[in-house]
Amino acid sequence: MPFPTTLPAPSLGDPVVGRLSEALQGHREAFEQHFGASVGVRTFFSPGRVNLFGGHLDYNGGPVLPTAIDRGTFVAIRAREDGQVRMGSRFAEAQGHFRTSELPVSPRGEWFDYPLGVLLALVRLDDSAPAKIAGGFDVLFGGNLPVGAGLSSSASICVGMTFALDSIFGLELDPVQRVEAALDAERGFVGVKCGIMDPYAVGFARPKHVLWLDCKDETFEHLPMDFERLSIGVADTGIQRLLARGEFNRRVTECAAAFDALRVHAPEARVLRDINRTVLAEHGHELDADLLRRATHVVEEVERTFVAREALLSGDLSTLGRCMSETHASLRDRYDCSCEELDVLVEAATVEGGALGARLTGAGFGGCAVMLIAAGDEQRVSDAVVTAYERRYGRRPPIAFFQGDEGPREVR
Ligand code: GLA
Repeated sequence: MPFPTTLPAPSLGDPVVGRLSEALQGHREAFEQHFGASVGVRTFFSPGRVNLFGGHLDYNGGPVLPTAIDRGTFVAIRAREDGQVRMGSRFAEAQGHFRTSELPVSPRGEWFDYPLGVLLALVRLDDSAPAKIAGGFDVLFGGNLPVGAGLSSSASICVGMTFALDSIFGLELDPVQRVEAALDAERGFVGVKCGIMDPYAVGFARPKHVLWLDCKDETFEHLPMDFERLSIGVADTGIQRLLARGEFNRRVTECAAAFDALRVHAPEARVLRDINRTVLAEHGHELDADLLRRATHVVEEVERTFVAREALLSGDLSTLGRCMSETHASLRDRYDCSCEELDVLVEAATVEGGALGARLTGAGFGGCAVMLIAAGDEQRVSDAVVTAYERRYGRRPPIAFFQGDEGPREVR
C-alpha cells in the first residue's frame, strides 16, 4: 500500500513551526494512519549537517570540521512479532516490504536501500542481533531536511535508522558501532565511495559546537563555536546534478591514483593527506594535469583546515571566513565540483552581502552553499543573496540559519 498522503520534498524555505516534539507528534499520527495501531510507536530525530572546513578531505584521510543543523529526519518505528519488515516514507510512494528471514542481498534502486543497508549491517555486526530483530518492525521516515542538497540526508537517515533499531531492540551498540553501521549501509550496500565525515558529523554532533574529525585515525573532538558572534547560513541552489554520484566517485578514484603516484616519494605516507607541499612541488609534474589539480587542492586544503581550526579557537573570524572562501575557490578551480549557481551564491554572499566567507557544502555539483556570517548581519546577507540569485535565475533560493545542533535522539 503506497503512503496515502505523500508530501512534497522538504525545502530549506519551509518555515519551522513549533517545537520538534510537536512535529514528531504529527509524524507519529501519520505512522498510525499508515500502519494501523499506535501502541509501542517510538519517534526519533536525526539531524543533517553542513561541512564548514575540509572540503573533500575525509576520503583522503584529512581533517574536517562539520556541524549538525536542526533540520533532519523523523523516524517513527514499532516492533512487530511476525517476522515482517515494512518501510515507508512520507515523500515517496514506494514502500519496502521484507521478511527478516529472507532479507534482500542487493539494493533495489529505491530510497529504502539506505535503511535496508543499515538493517543488513546490524545483522552482520553482532551475532545476537538477528535473533533480537527477528520479529521485524514497521518504520516510517519523514522530516524537514532537503534531500540531495549537500546536507547529508542519507547519513541522517542511516544514523537515525541505526539509532532507532538499537533503541527498540536493545542492541547495545557503542556510538562508534552505530556510525560504522550507517557508513556500511552507504558504502557497502548502496555503493557510494563516501568518506567517514557525514555519519560522524550526524552521530556525534553537539549543540553550539563543531566536530573536529581527523579522518586518518578517526579521532574527534568537539570545538566550541561562538554563536554570540557568528551565524551559519545555508542557501539552496535547487540544482540537483544527476551525475553527482558518478562524479563524486570519480574524484575519489582520482585522488587514489594521485596518491599511488606520489607515495613512492614519501614512504611514510599512508593517505594523500600525508603528502606535503615539498613532495608535490618536486614530483607533481609526474601526474597528469587533472590529478595534479586534485592533489593540489587536497594538500592546500589540509593546511587551510589547520589554519581554520586555530582561527576558530582564537576567535579570529576574518581568517575563518577567508579560509572558507578560499576553500570554495579551490573546489571550483581545482576540484571542478562547483557549478555556476553555487558560484553566484558564494559571490553574492561575500562580495555584496558582506558575509565573512562562503563555500559549497557537501560533495558540490549543485546543492547548498554555506555562509559564515557575523551575528546581526543575517538579513543583509540574505537580501543580497536572494536579490542576486533572483536577478540571474528568476527564482528565490531558500535560505535558513543555524547554530550547531545535537545528534540523534528519541523525542517523546
Ligand atoms: C559528500 C560525502 C562526504 C564528503 C563530502 C565532501 O558529502 O558523503 O563523505 O566526502 O561529500 O567533503
